Amino acid sequence: MKPLVVFYSRTGTTKKVGEALADLIQCDSEELIDTKKRTGPLGFLRSGRDAARNKLTVLGPLIHDPALYDVVALGTPVWSGLMSSPMRTYITNNKSKFNGVAFFCTQGGNENRKLFDDMQALCGRSPVSVLALRASLVKNEEYNERLRQFAGALQTQSDANAATTSEDR
Ligand SMILES: Cc1cc2nc3c(=O)[nH]c(=O)nc-3n(C[C@H](O)[C@H](O)[C@H](O)COP(=O)(O)O)c2cc1C
Repeated sequence: MKPLVVFYSRTGTTKKVGEALADLIQCDSEELIDTKKRTGPLGFLRSGRDAARNKLTVLGPLIHDPALYDVVALGTPVWSGLMSSPMRTYITNNKSKFNGVAFFCTQGGNENRKLFDDMQALCGRSPVSVLALRASLVKNEEYNERLRQFAGALQTQSDANAATTSEDR
C-alpha cells in the first residue's frame, strides 16, 4: 500500500507542500479540518497559545483510515516551536493505527528540533524521514529537490513493508 499524506494548514503553506508530495508519489492525502476558528489576529493568538499548552481541538470527519497504509507522512506548520493543535489531535486519536511515520513541517524561521522530537514522542515511533521547509522557500518554489528526496524515503519504506508482507504470506 502506498503512503498516506496527512496535513494541517492554516494559511496554505503546508497544504502546498502536502499536495505536491501526494502528487509526486501519486498517493492519497487527507487535509485536517479544524472546527475551531483560527483566522484573524485572535485566531493567531489562540493558535500559538493552544500549541504551547499542548491543547487538543475537534477535527472534522476524516476520509482515510491510516491503518491501511504502510507509512503516514504527517505535515504541520510550526506553532510556538511545536506542532499545531490539529496535528496533535490527529496523532493522539490515530497513533495506534500507524504502521510507519514520516514528518514534515513548514515554518517562518529555522528552528524545529523540538517539533520533530515532540512528534516522535507522541507517535511512539521514529520517523523514516523528516523534512523542514521555511515558508519563504515554499513561496519561491525552491523546495522541489528536497521534496523529491523526502518522497523517495517514503516510497523506499513503503516498498520494504510491501516486500515483508508478501514474504510473510
Ligand atoms: C500561531 C503561530 C505560531 C507560529 N510559531 C512559529 C515558530 O515558533 N517558529 C517558526 O519558525 N514559525 C512559526 N510560525 C510561522 C508558521 O510556522 C509558518 O508561517 C508556516 O509556514 C505556516 O504554515 P501554513 O500556511 O500551512 O499554516 C507560527 C505561525 C503561527 C500562526
